[in-house]
This record gives sequence, C-alpha cells and structure tokens, in this order.
Amino acid sequence: MSEKKKELRSRHWYGGTHKDGFIHRSWMKNQGFPDHVFDGRPIIGICNTWSELTPCNSHLRVLAEGVKRGVWEAGGFPVEFPVSSLGETQMRPTAMLFRNLLAMDVEEAIRAHGIDGVVLLGGCDKTTPGQLMGAASVDLPTIVVSSGPMLNGKWKGKDIGSGTDVWKFSEAVRAGEMSLQEFMAAESGMSRSPGVCMTMGTATTMASVVEAMGLSLPTNAALPAVDARRMALAHMTGKRIVEMVHEDLRLSKILTKKNFENGIIANAAVGGSTNAVVHMLAIAGRAGVDICLDDFDRVGGQVPCIVNCMPSGKYLIEDLAYAGGLPAVMNRIRHLLHPDAPTVFGVPISKYWEGAEVYNDDVIRPLDNPLRAGAGIRVLKGNLAPNGAVIKPSAASERLLAHEGPAYIFETIEDLKAKIDDPDLPVTEDTILVLKGCGPKGYPGMAEVGNMPIPRRLVEKGVRDMVRISDARMSGTAFGTVVLHVSPEANAGGPLAIVKTGDRIRLDALRGELNLLISEEEFQTRMTAWQPPEQKWQRGYYKLYYETVLQADKGADLDFLVGKSGSDVQRESH
Ligand code: FES
Repeated sequence: MSEKKKELRSRHWYGGTHKDGFIHRSWMKNQGFPDHVFDGRPIIGICNTWSELTPCNSHLRVLAEGVKRGVWEAGGFPVEFPVSSLGETQMRPTAMLFRNLLAMDVEEAIRAHGIDGVVLLGGCDKTTPGQLMGAASVDLPTIVVSSGPMLNGKWKGKDIGSGTDVWKFSEAVRAGEMSLQEFMAAESGMSRSPGVCMTMGTATTMASVVEAMGLSLPTNAALPAVDARRMALAHMTGKRIVEMVHEDLRLSKILTKKNFENGIIANAAVGGSTNAVVHMLAIAGRAGVDICLDDFDRVGGQVPCIVNCMPSGKYLIEDLAYAGGLPAVMNRIRHLLHPDAPTVFGVPISKYWEGAEVYNDDVIRPLDNPLRAGAGIRVLKGNLAPNGAVIKPSAASERLLAHEGPAYIFETIEDLKAKIDDPDLPVTEDTILVLKGCGPKGYPGMAEVGNMPIPRRLVEKGVRDMVRISDARMSGTAFGTVVLHVSPEANAGGPLAIVKTGDRIRLDALRGELNLLISEEEFQTRMTAWQPPEQKWQRGYYKLYYETVLQADKGADLDFLVGKSGSDVQRESH
C-alpha cells in the first residue's frame, strides 16, 4: 500500500472551512484569485529582492513572471513577495552590514507565510547568501534563480568590466594616465543592461557556487540577465519547484558536505571572490554542515583557475556563457568534483555537466593551460592571524606571494583616506600596508576596503601592486596581493591591533603563513596593554549587530542565528 501523502504546509493557512481559512483565503481573493487555486495545490513563494535601489536586481519582477508561468503550468499557485534588497554599490557603510538582516527577513517571511516551497530570486553580492542563509534556517523545498550578468561593458571599442576597470581607471587617473573626461565617459559604457556585475565578482561567484552546489538549474550562473534563455530558465525553475514540493526535496537534502565541497572547488576554478568564503561559512552554519575555513585551502587550494574572466583574467561573464558556462567548466574539472552530490533537479550533479562542451578554449582553459595552477583561495595562519586570513593568489602578483617588509599602519579607513595621497608618505614598494578597524565590528560590517589604493607617490612611479593586509573584505571584482579577513579583527582584540609602523611582517602565501616578526615578549606586552575601543552603537540594528556578530572565520553571522528553527508555526494570528 502506498504511503499516505503528507498534507501540504499551506493547508494550515488556506484549507478548511473554519474562520481562519476564511480569513486567509478571503483577503487573498482581493487580488482576483478564484476559488480553485486554494484547492490544495502547492503554494510557491517567490522571494524577490527586486528594488530600484539594487540596480542589479531591478529586472527581477520580470523574471518573477517567468517563474510564475512555470508554477502555474505545473499545477502550483505562485505568490511573489518582497524582502529587503541590498545593492552593493548603493548602501552605506556597506551592504555586508545588512546581509544578516536580510537573512532574518527571509527566514521569518518564509516561516510566517503559508507556502510550501520557495524560489529565491536575487543576485547582488549579499542577496544570494542572505536569502540562502534565511531559507536554510527554515528548510522548505528551495531553488535559486539568479539575476544573471549585465552585457559586457563597452568603451572606446573595448570590453570593460564592472568594478575591475573602475579600480584600474581610477588608478590611471591618479597616475595622470587618464583624463577625468575619459573617466566620466567610461561610466556610461560600463553598465549597459539589467543584471549583476559582469566580471567574476561576488555576484557571479555566488551564482557559480550555487550552480555547482546543485541549488539552481544548470546554466543559471552565467546566462546574461537579458538573454531570453534566462526567462526560459525561470519558467523551468517554476515548474521544478512544484515537483520538489511533491517530492519533499528540502534544502537540507541539497546542502550536504559534498555540495559545499563542490562549491569550494568551483569557486577556485572560476577564480571566484574571497567573499564566497564568509558567505559559504555562514550558510553552512545555518545548515549545520561541518565546513570550516581550512576546508577552502584543503579542498580548493590546489584547484587550477581555468576561467579567464576579470579580475583574474581578461574576459567577461557574457563570454563565459557563450563559451559553455558552468556546465562546461564543471565538465573540465569533473575529476575533482563529487559526481554524486544531490541537486534540486533530483539528479546527481554529474548530469549537469554531462555532454557540456567548451566553445572557446581561451575563455574556459584546458587543464594543461590553466590561467593559474593552484589558484584556490589560500588560508593563512600565524601570530598575526591566529584564526586565519585569506588571499586570492589568482588575483595577486606572483612575486609578492612570498614577501617580507616593514609595515605602514592606517588605524582606520579615514586615516588611510587622509594619508594615501601624501607625497611624503614614508613607503616604498616593499612596504606592507596594514589597515585596521574594518572587520565585522570595526567598520561595522566588514567593508570591501581591503584592496587599499597604492600610495600616490608609488603609483606615479609605476607601482601597481603591493602587499596589503587588513581585517576587511575586498570586492570580488578587485585584484592585487591583498590579505583579507584577518581574524580575530583588530576591534575584537586580534593581534592586528598591536602592529606598529616599522614592524616587519612576513607573508608566505604558498606555505599559508602570516607572521608579525617581533619577539614573543614584546608581542605579549602589547597584547596585554590593548584596550577595546568604545562601543559607539547604542540602539537599533547596529547595536544588535555589533554585540552579536561572529568573526570572519565563522562567516560573520549573528551568533543567535546560527542553525535552524524549521518551518512550524503553531499559533494563528486571530
Ligand atoms: Fe550588484 Fe555588483 S553591484 S552585482
């Protein structure tokens, strides 16, 4: 005898002839929904981060229509709902401060409503991880549709990439190699269509990780936002989520350790952002999966970077899509991946790459001609970063990956901004720039300021890279020999707080080491003398965040949000 079919969660809201069912249905009917859509079909929430203040998510209401078509076709009932939206380029002090707030919003919005499955529609740097963190804590059947990248930027007949070329152009202006008029003109050519940054920044990194983890349909990561095939993918996703509800294929069944390891490997192969580290650690924390900072080195450290996209390489994500996209990338590195990891499609992930061809060997490089061998994110440890720090070798200068030099300290971001263009700044190209006060608590929000500008006096001499160390993050579109996420951060009493100008520091990225070269006695004296900074945030979300945020090596989630609470809500509102 077949097992009795489990009653859908939504029936507790929209089923029955009692007062509560009347209230839930009646108010929904003011949108013109007929009786029969409340007949017990799966109700699918489309969790949308659409906002005109998040330009890379501004087309998501259109994409939601594609999802709805698929849900209706499969016999479901789609309902779109908004959650906070975090526009990376628009928010101060940093969108990262609000990632955990979005995750709370998503978690509670999903749990509070009578839905059976969720489509996460998002795509800017923090919207994808924030949505996944929240959804993981509820654990309904869940699938992702990403925004997709903008079309390639174009200026003066050349391709220009979001972020990456901004940093290059602004350094060129500082070096007197580019006029301000040219700089302003490039601005209009960079962002030519809806979609996320079209470099391998954090948005496409996270979309790539999502696809490699089997959390979306294949090709989701790289198809341009305006490509008709993305609308078709949204439609297919809508169909699939209804099936997932019938199969009770919950997020926790996809968020396995193997899926995370595939995500780490894919992140290395695409030359993905260091930001993926904090986000994946936070998602793993919600899902209760045993992934730690060292896994990024252990699993991804030796993986070659084969995707030749900015900031590590020269192409853009539109090119990656036409070269075969993530399925083709995964096919090239299939010997490294767990082929049997589960997916939202209900098939093993190996089906995602089966038959996928590479159509341009310069965009997706063969394994015997990678962009960089052993290019995964490296984890650094040592007396300067007892809980770890990270560096992205594929975006660094090879000659600086092992380097010793004197430190020059910026105590805060304001200190850096005030001094960096000083013609008398006492630095040489061997100096190691150190920035404090930019970690989760310090900024607050762990801003993307770790790729400090090169001091003007050195830029003018042609210096384009130096070793830089901070407790900050950096934009996924940025490049350079930049040590990030030093943990614990300076404001939490990490050893970064005690470094002084003139101290010598040794970085050995290949050996995974980062050390402050002072005597043990001096080290302990300074640590004992350290005083925590005054707590400036006395109300609202800032206070909650400051008092509960975890350090970068734990994903910078709020401590009380780690784990999950499930989807049950017993009490009615009336
Ligand atoms: Fe949203 Fe880059 S600013 S993806």
